[in-house]
Amino acid sequence: MSRLSITAQNGLFQLDTQNTSYRFRIDEHGVPVHLYYGARLPVDAPLPLPQRRDIGFSGNPGDVNDDRGYSLDTLPQEIPCGGSGDFRDPMLELVHANGALAADLRCQGHEILPRALPLPGLPALYGTGNDPGETLIVTLKDTGSDVYAKLIYGVFARQDILTRSVVIENRGASEVTLERVLSLAVDLDAADLTMTAFCGRYAMERLPETCPVGRIKAEIGSVRGHSSHHYNPAFLLSRPGATETAGECWGFCFAYSGNFIASAQVDQTGRTRVLLGIHPRRFRWRLEPGQSFSAPQVLLSYSGAGAETLSHHFHDVIRAHLCRGPWAERERPLLLNSWEAAYFAFDRPKLLALARQAAALGIEMLVLDDGWFGERDCDERALGDWFANTRKLGGTLGALAADIRALGLRFGLWVEPEMISEDSDLYRAHPDWAAAVPDRPPVRSRGQLVLDMTRADVRDWLFACLYDILNESKADYLKWDFNRSVSDAFSAALPPERMGEFYHRFILGTYDLLERLRAAFPALLIEGCCGGGGRFDAGMLYYTPQIWCSDDTDAVDRVSIQYGTSFFYPASTVGAHVSACPNAQTGRSVPLATRAEVALAGTFGYELDPARLTEVEKDDILRYNKLYHRANGLVRTGVQYRLSPPRAELAAWAFAARDGSCLLVTVVRMRPGTAAPPIPLRGLDAHARYRCAALGETHTGAEWMAAGLCVERELRQYEAALLLLERVGQTGDRE
Ligand code: GLA
Repeated sequence: MSRLSITAQNGLFQLDTQNTSYRFRIDEHGVPVHLYYGARLPVDAPLPLPQRRDIGFSGNPGDVNDDRGYSLDTLPQEIPCGGSGDFRDPMLELVHANGALAADLRCQGHEILPRALPLPGLPALYGTGNDPGETLIVTLKDTGSDVYAKLIYGVFARQDILTRSVVIENRGASEVTLERVLSLAVDLDAADLTMTAFCGRYAMERLPETCPVGRIKAEIGSVRGHSSHHYNPAFLLSRPGATETAGECWGFCFAYSGNFIASAQVDQTGRTRVLLGIHPRRFRWRLEPGQSFSAPQVLLSYSGAGAETLSHHFHDVIRAHLCRGPWAERERPLLLNSWEAAYFAFDRPKLLALARQAAALGIEMLVLDDGWFGERDCDERALGDWFANTRKLGGTLGALAADIRALGLRFGLWVEPEMISEDSDLYRAHPDWAAAVPDRPPVRSRGQLVLDMTRADVRDWLFACLYDILNESKADYLKWDFNRSVSDAFSAALPPERMGEFYHRFILGTYDLLERLRAAFPALLIEGCCGGGGRFDAGMLYYTPQIWCSDDTDAVDRVSIQYGTSFFYPASTVGAHVSACPNAQTGRSVPLATRAEVALAGTFGYELDPARLTEVEKDDILRYNKLYHRANGLVRTGVQYRLSPPRAELAAWAFAARDGSCLLVTVVRMRPGTAAPPIPLRGLDAHARYRCAALGETHTGAEWMAAGLCVERELRQYEAALLLLERVGQTGDRE
């Protein structure tokens, strides 16, 4: 881009990306007033200013004496505060030392940085050499105290992504308490939007659900201590009639893994207030003089061309500016995970047999899942005992890993660091390290308790354990699990007045430990996990470039789960494996081809015992593994198209090469039926000619996209087809 993306002129700020603009202005009272977020606008394009009318019961700030039309209750704002006379839901609520809940922030100045700004201890989009990002910081001061707020706007122009967050600073002489600090407020000029959120439960995550946004609030959130299986911290707002490929929509994605709230509600002026941030329930943060608080980052984007384009913005920025480490961009080792292959029932001969059979199938890594440490023969005990069970492993972890490596495989390991079993050496030595409310029996879930990650001593101990395990085993991969929600939010190490900080400090503690581990083992590939996809969010993706998508490995259910996941998260981050049939979770049997073709739309691997495969299945697996190596580059770096949703008779998706050279289409028949309509195609160069060898047809991109794709044979229920369209020339060329 020729000029900077941030313009600041006479109190007017405009943030431009390739196709979008975001505009606000500092009004005559110093209040940042939101003006516009939508399709790209020239900086000098006039926009109507929000009308000012004397509306009953919407009062006027104390310093605005004779203008009854000026009310913070009716202005679209960038940082609405509780106690300011704005009665809509606020972004910020603070309580002063005298007990007053009040904040009225007025602008003091601004600063523009030619780079992205990291947030201390938190995930944030980072700049790169040729795409450094830009930052606008607007500093505001409370009229009645020395509390300052820095509104931070990031711009990633190429991907049409903005970021928002806020830092609250107490520069006064007495403490203040933050009762609510959200990361984003935006008052969109629309009263007829719908919200699409991604909802579910354990083993059925991220199913899209849409509801109207009216004066009755649309709201989702989590107070489980993790972003949750139930509501993903990302959502869309769409204009009426917006579809996958047309119409206006906005996307909001929270780069945070803990409690969150997201809401949209129409106000009396006909605008929609959108809020996203840390859930205020169970949150209270004390700021002593000189202290500051950083709210986590929100990623936001706008598309005038439907949800698919919005997804592309998020996919691109997550891949290029959020995921880190050497594995973020590389093909991941093709793995066999021991969980559904053996659960807790393994010993050394069994593991070596798995490794041998895996190697014979062209698999590249054995991941030793749960059950290798302490007395862990079931899920009731030993979490926290992070030393090898030498009886089960037939020796040390290092020796086992070496033997597996000698078979030509890499070695990976499962851990669940943030947890503790009461039946563990760790609990017997440090009962106060478990999060529990004194004099009350703690809530157990999966028979386990949560470790107090707010404590530095707990994290130091965990780091030492993980360091030893990784050092000894030379593991290439770590699966970082988290298998319960956090209910007893109490730390023996926090003073009573700071107990409301538990949940956020917990997540900061987890991030801190992950960051230390990344620094100590920069080549390590970490896969996030939370009973499947209960912490599948942009926060974790900053530390783990892939996340186990769901414990439901049934390929048919996975079509829906991976479909919902794809609205914000790229396929390169989606942990997906082929498992045995009948499926362990659902009992359903699905052809191996379908299981493989669905898992190919993720990181790919296996979760089964190769000893139980037939010779025919083994031959098929050898072919799928070759296919993985051929197709994964396209899946990881290409452009994803949701061609037909899982609710249709035929679900279909595709990955297009960025240079237009090919399109890989997957079609799954979801329910029995008669002839289904052709699958619409996108992502082809209209002027190029493409051949589909499986169909024996060659057409121009324009023709393929106009006619759609008819699968060569009638697919029976749960059968799938994988079709590759390859460019064979430009229009006018002879074949
Ligand atoms: C969670 C994970 C599974 C497996 C088990 C082990 O449920 O999602 O993949 O690792 O824990 O206990």
